[in-house]
Amino acid sequence: MFRHELLKHLHQLVQPRTYLEIGVRKGASLALSRARTVAVDPFYEIEREILCDLHLVRTTSDEFFARRHPLAHFDEPVVDLAFIDGMHLSEYALRDVINVERYCHAGSVIVIDDMLPRGVEEAGRTRQGAAAHGHWAGDVYKMVASLRELRPDLICLEVDTRPTGTAVLMTPDPTSTALADAYDRLVAEFVVPDPQVVPTETLERTRAVKPWALVRAPIWDSVRSLRTAPDARARAEIRRLVDQAGLLDSTVAPVG
Ligand SMILES: C[S@@+](CC[C@H](N)C(=O)[O-])C[C@H]1O[C@@H](n2cnc3c(N)ncnc32)[C@H](O)[C@@H]1O
Repeated sequence: MFRHELLKHLHQLVQPRTYLEIGVRKGASLALSRARTVAVDPFYEIEREILCDLHLVRTTSDEFFARRHPLAHFDEPVVDLAFIDGMHLSEYALRDVINVERYCHAGSVIVIDDMLPRGVEEAGRTRQGAAAHGHWAGDVYKMVASLRELRPDLICLEVDTRPTGTAVLMTPDPTSTALADAYDRLVAEFVVPDPQVVPTETLERTRAVKPWALVRAPIWDSVRSLRTAPDARARAEIRRLVDQAGLLDSTVAPVG
């Protein structure tokens, strides 16, 4: 399944009231939205028809989130579904995750592109090596280990989508400061010269769930209906359902 197909399914399953997209380019992913949408990209060059109530912002995600009321286009500054596909460097993407989560609730779903590069060239911090493939995933894959280490409360599913894999985050917590507190340390670890050392589990996608397993999992009605439930209840219930659906199995390191 291609990443846009996964995103299309997630739009249908989550039925978001609000959608936030970081990284628009020609509008292929943006065109999937029917929700009230805010989309951010300093260099967008949209070629598609867009069929949603849209605030399109020509700026970087950092500048966008530094605004006083970045999500003023929404009735409330709350995001049900987000797609992070802007600058493919781990320090930028980590800031995007931190900033997006501040506007989430426990039932929000955050999708991150390019989380499973297929080779060291695609995973580089510079685009040169990726040119031969035609895809530059960058080193955003590095976030998975940190998210799992620092945020055991956050569900972080790697998803085996084509071409360069995605991650789906569930049960976000807008009050958590764990990632922001660790930001400087993480960036010092992340920002190293190419070639990057990409874990075998990432390259071989051994921890990744199949996209069909995710979209067919019997969790989505509850994810939608728990949107208005108290956060703690929604978080516990969504985790129970995701676990019951077998989606957490591959995220737990084997013992021994
Ligand atoms: C891979 S493209 C997005 C593709 C689009 N999401 C899709 O699937 O059709 C990445 C986009 O991120 C944008 N970008 C680069 N740096 C950015 C930043 N700091 N903030 C937001 N967007 C950024 C680029 O201009 C580029 O258009």
